[in-house]
Order: sequence, then C-alpha cells, then structure tokens
Amino acid sequence: MEIKTQVGIIGAGPAGLTLAHWLKKHGISSVILENRSREYVESRVRAGLLEQNTVDILKDLGLADRLLKEGQEHHGVYLNFDNQRIRVPFGKLTGDRNITIYGQQEIVKDMTDAWQEAGERLFFEAEAKKIIDIETSNPKIYYTFEGENHTLSCDFVAACDGFHGLGRKTMPKDSYGEYQVTYPFSWLGILANVAPSSEELIYAYHERGFALHSLRSNTVSRLYIQVENDAKVEDWPDERIWEELSVRLATEGWKLNSGPIFEKSITPMRSYFIDKMQYGRLFLTGDAAHIVPPTGGKGLNLAVADVKHLVDGLVDYYKNDSIKTLDNYSSQALKRNWRAQDFSNFMTTLFHKQDEHGSFQYQLQKAKFDYISISEAYKTTIAENYVGLPFESFEEILIGINERS
Ligand code: FAD
Ligand code: PHB
Repeated sequence: MEIKTQVGIIGAGPAGLTLAHWLKKHGISSVILENRSREYVESRVRAGLLEQNTVDILKDLGLADRLLKEGQEHHGVYLNFDNQRIRVPFGKLTGDRNITIYGQQEIVKDMTDAWQEAGERLFFEAEAKKIIDIETSNPKIYYTFEGENHTLSCDFVAACDGFHGLGRKTMPKDSYGEYQVTYPFSWLGILANVAPSSEELIYAYHERGFALHSLRSNTVSRLYIQVENDAKVEDWPDERIWEELSVRLATEGWKLNSGPIFEKSITPMRSYFIDKMQYGRLFLTGDAAHIVPPTGGKGLNLAVADVKHLVDGLVDYYKNDSIKTLDNYSSQALKRNWRAQDFSNFMTTLFHKQDEHGSFQYQLQKAKFDYISISEAYKTTIAENYVGLPFESFEEILIGINERS
C-alpha cells in the first residue's frame, strides 16, 4: 500500500513527535513511523532535564498541561567537588531562565496521546527499511507494518530515528564529516522509590568517581554514578549503589535517602557528530545526527532545537515557496550543537574521575571548581549554558557575525 503526506517522519521519540505537532500547527501534514511498540517507547527511561526553550516550545504547542502540573521548575544547581558544595543560581545570571525536571517518557506519552486524539497518523511497530529518491522532489520510505510492505510517499523525509537509525546510514558517506569521542567510563543510572534528598540537582566529582543526584517527583529519585566501561548491572547490587552514592555525594550536614531501586541501566558516554544534517530532501534531527554525553542534560533539548530550525525551513518552503531557510538548516542547527558539545564535554571532564587523585588532570579540575566557586562570571557561563541559550540571541547573532567576518 502507498500513502502520501508532505513530511514523512521516521521515529516517535522527542524529535519526531515535536516535529509532527509543530508542522501540524502550520497546516503541514506528516505521518510518523515508529519501529517499536507504544509500550516500549513509553517505558524507555532516559532524559529528565528540560531547558527553558524546550518548555516554552511545548507550551506554545499546547502540549505542556501535564508538564506544568507535574514537572518541577528548578532555579539553581549544586556542584560538589571533593565533598565541598557550591550552588549556581539561575535567576539574575540567566535573565530568569530555568530548567524543569520532567521525564522524557512522560513527554513522549503526552505528545503521542495528543497526536492520536487529533486523529493523526502514527504507526507503531512500523519499521522504515529503505529511503529512496532523496535527490528528487518525491522521496519515499519503504516500511513494514503488520507483516506487509508499504510505501510512504512524501515531499521531505525527516529522520528523527535516533543514533542507530536508518537516516544517517542513507546519507552518502562522503557527504558529511564525522567526529567522535568515546569516554573511558559509563553511567549506571537508577530510579528509586524514595523522596529526593535535595530539592535541586547535585553534580559531584569524587576520588571514587562522578555522581549525580536528580529526581522525577516528590517520591521518585533518579541517580547516576560513573562506572567502568565493562561494568554490568549484575555487578551493582542495590546496597553497593547506595553506599557509593552516599560517599560520592556526601557533604557536611547532608544525608542521602535510600530506598527500593526499580530501574537500573548502564549508558556509555560518547560525543558524536556529523557536520551536515541534510542530503537532498532527507533531513536528520536529534540523536540521528549527534550524541552528547548526558552530563549537561542536552540531548533531548538539542533534538527539540533541531526541530525548531527544520520547522522554520519547511514553513518557509510551503508558505513562501522558498528553499533558502531549509538550505540553512544544517548550519543553523550546527551552531547550537557545537555549543552543546563544548558544554557537555566541559561538564563531563570537570566532574568525572579521569586520572589519579592529585595528578595534573585532577589539579586542573580542582582549579576550575575553585574558580567557579568565587567567580560570578564563571557561574554565569555555566548557568546560561545549562538553562540553554535563547534562540534569538544565539544562532541568529552567531550566523550574522560569521557572515560579516
Ligand atoms: P530517540 O529518542 O532515540 O528516538 C528515535 C526513535 O526512532 C526511537 O523511538 C526508535 O525506536 C525509532 N526508530 C529508529 N529506527 C527506526 C526505523 N528504522 N523505523 C522506525 N522507527 C525507528 N537529554 C536531555 O536533554 N536531558 C537529559 O537529562 C538527558 N538525560 C539522559 C540520560 C540518559 C541515561 C540517556 C541515555 C540520555 C539522556 N538524554 C538527555 C538524551 C536524550 O534521551 C536523547 O538525546 C533523546 O532521546 C533524543 O531524542 P530523539 O527523538 O532524537 O531520538
Ligand atoms: C536526569 O534527570 O535524568 C538527568 C538530569 C541531568 C543530567 C542528566 C540526566 O545532566
């Protein structure tokens, strides 16, 4: 069977769903193909930190009712180094921009519900197998659904299909440059039925390794620790995790609450990037084009920012018959991506144990932390990157400066 739409979207993660809703707001049609089941996608535990831009976009799209009720807005973040704690406030350092904690799978659920309630097309367990004719004005996606082969015929293909997706593999290898760094450590993440021990997030360097205290609600805590790349979940019984977290996050007068752990998983830490996110009528967004280590909480937020630039381009195309904004998609999106790569790398190298305590590397990390603790300027740099730079004062200005020089 062949179906037609304006934009064929592969992937019902944060990127694909945001794109579909945003296009709909502008009267542009799309169909989403998702190879996993709805249950699988909605139970995949991942991000939790939303930048101000992401929250504002979801509000504008009318998708933030539950987020505004159940999400928690944070006005600062704690940084620990060798058991000393400082706070970076957002408020006046960021022009009152903040972060919100709300689980990625909740966003995905909210957007999926809204899409289906509007009677729009999203096929779960529909796997995109091949993308063809991307150099023509009528690309097609071949996919399988309920044991049959189908074709989605469209004007544009948006590959929002994550790091292992089909989109990037479809781009000719010589059409982009590739950058990658694999870090020599991973994260063990847990969800536990216990009240958070801190009202704001805590990022910690400790001689036994990195630790992060985050949360999902007043009764669920989300925590992470740095582990070896070959670590297995079985090596980490609950008692060992709590013991390690309490040592690494410790600071005078503060106590970590522990409780039953109901989710454990290990995530490798990598930075990955391609420098062209478009080939012909195929566009890549989100993890399909780039991965950042999660230390800065940027991945989902970058996916949503890519979507903003792609929507700008598609709206210009359909409303004004102009390809100009669409042709700038990659360069616009890359500006923010490089900024996030730098910030995520900064947070990762500052807080992870990379060399022995007392080594040259350790002293550099400590010197940075000491400087952050006394410098309003350094705190401002961290705060504005952490809450996310506003669109109007970032890509547009940078592009202008680069064009002039
Ligand atoms: P994905 O969420 O990967 O969605 C892609 C979708 O495409 C998937 O549903 C997949 O099943 C589907 N798909 C793939 N191939 C096909 C195919 N052939 N046919 C059909 N469908 C296909 N980011 C933050 O911003 N803040 C955080 O706090 C944060 N914390 C994180 C913590 C952890 C432990 C991890 C692992 C990640 C974290 N991230 C965070 C990153 C964030 O989760 C990702 O960047 C985000 O999921 C990217 O969204 P996406 O839509 O681009 O890709
Ligand atoms: C999370 O809550 O899952 C989270 C928060 C901040 C990060 C990464 C993950 O930097």
